[in-house]
Amino acid sequence: MINNLKERLVAFGQEHVLAHWDSLSSEGQRELAAQLESVDLALVQRLYQQAQSDSAVLADLDSRAQSPPAVTSADLADPARRQAAIEAGEAALRAGRVGMILVAGGQGSRLGFEHPKGMFPIGPLSGRTLFQMLTDLLQARGRHYNTRIPLYVMTSPATDAATREHFEQQNYFGLPAGDLQVFCQGTMPAVDAASGRLLLSAPDQLFLSPDGHGGMLPAFLSSGCLADAAARGIEHLFYCQVDNPLVQICDPLLIGLHVLQQAEVTTQVVRKSEPLQRVGNVVRVDDHLEVIEYSDLPETLARQTLPDGSLRFWAGNIAVHVFERSFLERAVAETVQQGQGLPFHIAKKKVPFVDEAGATVQPASENAYKFERFIFDLLPLAKSAMVVEVAAEEGFAAVKNAETAKSETATTTKAAIVAQHTRWLRAAGVTVADGVQVEIHPSVAHDSATVAQRFAGHPPIESDRYFEA
Ligand code: UD1
Repeated sequence: MINNLKERLVAFGQEHVLAHWDSLSSEGQRELAAQLESVDLALVQRLYQQAQSDSAVLADLDSRAQSPPAVTSADLADPARRQAAIEAGEAALRAGRVGMILVAGGQGSRLGFEHPKGMFPIGPLSGRTLFQMLTDLLQARGRHYNTRIPLYVMTSPATDAATREHFEQQNYFGLPAGDLQVFCQGTMPAVDAASGRLLLSAPDQLFLSPDGHGGMLPAFLSSGCLADAAARGIEHLFYCQVDNPLVQICDPLLIGLHVLQQAEVTTQVVRKSEPLQRVGNVVRVDDHLEVIEYSDLPETLARQTLPDGSLRFWAGNIAVHVFERSFLERAVAETVQQGQGLPFHIAKKKVPFVDEAGATVQPASENAYKFERFIFDLLPLAKSAMVVEVAAEEGFAAVKNAETAKSETATTTKAAIVAQHTRWLRAAGVTVADGVQVEIHPSVAHDSATVAQRFAGHPPIESDRYFEA
């Protein structure tokens, strides 16, 4: 067997990964061999070649890219249009046709938190974790419509065990048995940028990292979750990231707009707060939608304005999508089952590795290419895709950075939650003293309408309050 493996590796110039083979235990040998078996060496070689020449992807963007046609907040000020959409969304929810996918394969390393990001405590007064905040919202939505909304949580090998343990310890946050499924995404190796050689993280371990949130598509299929959704009669899958506790989970308005438009994908966006905001740009290129990362949009284009002074590229990606299940099935058939999947994006990163002498090397600068697939590359495949604007203060407050940063920190996210709940209470006629922090558990009220019902006539709030069930 080792001879076969060696031959394969030699054919791709990768035999250096066996440098420590003779000193490995038989278990170590088995593990390394299994990892190597699962790597598509021809693909890695192709991606490395692509990394060397990757540059022309965004050519002609100025002439080809436009701001996307969208349902804006101004459009939704029309009460009749809004009501019709909400009713369509509510009907889909009541009929049990809605499920949810939460991607949570990332570690909280950028936050200085060495656990799955979903375990990060973010409730301003409650200290609830991101996972808990999101499942509480989901359950409130389900209870409100007397329906079951299955939750599919994607982990990565780095977060899988700890995530399962966290859910188990917390009694699945009260989710009904069978309504939560955890599925794990795949991995990709990293290669040395100068030579294209695979990197080892230990003498018996390849350096492997999650294959990007676009790994959701093959993993949703291979885990059986896609079939499960079909068996349950789920037609619309609400998708979001674990780092945004303000997300309007399974919002009937968004789902209703998607249903009425018969869209295959609907993407919720925010109006960018400044030209260089670090969010992807949702744009129309030729006849389809695309997301162009902030790092890939030239600054001159990002700063361009229209005659009315507004940004030409205004639509910020918050990674909230509604996918038709039938669209995911078609995308699987057209990509994964053709042996290719979504395209890879290549990033140069610092990757520590074990060299041939067995020493661990901590590189001083970016030394390796990593390969990831992005979920938003599904957008160009959709025959009909729609963009819907949400006000940032009502739908987007992601926590990404450690406190030393100016934005997207735990402090800014907690402040956004408090501000939203304060706004809802004040709109319901409740006095909330300035500087006071409030947090409302979704089982008490989960949006402005339910706050208006539950808090009518409530006495003034003069000190910090957490309203729990
Ligand atoms: C992402 C988007 C960006 C958008 C922003 C909104 C990309 C490339 N960019 O940026 O356009 O404006 O979110 O907040 O996606 N994840 C996995 N598996 C992986 C990688 C990521 O599950 O292999 C999950 C993470 O747990 C996290 C989410 O995907 O929930 C976002 O990943 P991250 O790498 O933090 O993306 P951003 O750079 O923040």
